[in-house]
Amino acid sequence: MLNNTALTKRRAEFMGMLCDGIAILTTSKHLTRNRDVFYPFRPDSDFFYLTAFPEPNAAAVFVPGRDKGEYLLFCREKDPEMERWDGRRAGLEGAIEQYGADQAFPIEKLQEVLIELIPEYHNVYSQMGKDSDLDKEILSIISDLRTKSREGTKVPANFVHLDHILHEMRLIKDSEEIRTMRKAAKLAAKGHIRAMQTTRPGMYEYQVQAELEYVFLKGGGLSVAYPSIVAGGPNACILHYIDNNDRLNDGDLLLIDAGVEVDCYASDITRTFPVNGKFTGAQRDVYDVVLNAQVAAIDAVRVDRPVTDYHEVAVRTLAEGMIDIGLLRGDLEELIEKKTYRKFYMHLTGHWLGIDVHDVGDYKIGKQGRSLEPGMIVTVEPGLYIEPCKEVDEKWHNIGIRIEDDVLVRRNGPEVLTVDVPKNTDEIQAIMAD
Ligand code: GLY
Ligand code: MN
Ligand code: MN
Repeated sequence: MLNNTALTKRRAEFMGMLCDGIAILTTSKHLTRNRDVFYPFRPDSDFFYLTAFPEPNAAAVFVPGRDKGEYLLFCREKDPEMERWDGRRAGLEGAIEQYGADQAFPIEKLQEVLIELIPEYHNVYSQMGKDSDLDKEILSIISDLRTKSREGTKVPANFVHLDHILHEMRLIKDSEEIRTMRKAAKLAAKGHIRAMQTTRPGMYEYQVQAELEYVFLKGGGLSVAYPSIVAGGPNACILHYIDNNDRLNDGDLLLIDAGVEVDCYASDITRTFPVNGKFTGAQRDVYDVVLNAQVAAIDAVRVDRPVTDYHEVAVRTLAEGMIDIGLLRGDLEELIEKKTYRKFYMHLTGHWLGIDVHDVGDYKIGKQGRSLEPGMIVTVEPGLYIEPCKEVDEKWHNIGIRIEDDVLVRRNGPEVLTVDVPKNTDEIQAIMAD
């Protein structure tokens, strides 16, 4: 659980940005899987960022400057009978004592409290479009107030979307978040190492997935950050392959893109290694092209450089490498200009990482890539994916390689949080032979 001092500071910063306003957020719903079985609950990311409250059926209301309390949490009340079946609840007391709310109310009282509070403010901040029930409730309160405006009732003048404020905050990780993300990165790295150590020809992809996720769960990562991709041979060329049900063949590569979530913060690692523990010459050639691009791209993750730069560095290094090994022919500048490389490299080189695996925050300010700042965390994940075709030498057919690390932007240069998993071919072979 996140520490309360960091959360109090985060909430104070958030409330400092609300101008004569009330902010209302709700968390995710508990979704039914079938009949009386639910999907595991995972809080809404924005709500969690400000509250760390892990239960469904809750709302947070922020009313800066209000004497009776600025941070109001609405949640389920304690109910011993229901808790015997469905698990413990913080209840109203817990909302205050454990989660730092100034006041707590049963969730059923949300509308009643909002009716009282909303007319006090000029601006209503919410996440319109995210929770249609809440949207309707707010609109109905406002339209009721309008009917009474001749009696002197005040009506807020503006609706403001919260996403911009919140997502700009989430983009720069505070020290508490960095601590959690280091944990997630270290645990994910351990899982990848075990996958390398246990993979053998003849195993099924899901068996390797089990080795990996065993480490995640055993280390306290109760959920994956996204469905694990365990893709042997040609499956590695399917970017979002999650079937994970094929046999692993001697001589093929295995691409694993998997990360664990720790206290709702994601890690995101990809490694590609030979199923039998030894790269072929052709596999090694392509692998080293990707590795060189990844190392060069990580070096471009620097304060004040546009976030778009490291993709450009990766593309250039990949294109140079592909020309060197004979996978592409022609003039480097022209191949880049005409995007010919996209036949083998069709995705971007990374994304923000945080509470969401593809985390929030703008990548561009106007048309320019925004400058990197300390505390941002990105992934760096170039790859090459070679589907069989007659223009390409058969020795490269079905090779799919991606290498992905999580990188913290720091004043003194990039810090690779996922450094524990080997990525040089010799190191990978050594760990697999061990
Ligand atoms: N695992 C999702 C991604 O790498 O973007
Ligand atoms: Mn990624
Ligand atoms: Mn990934």
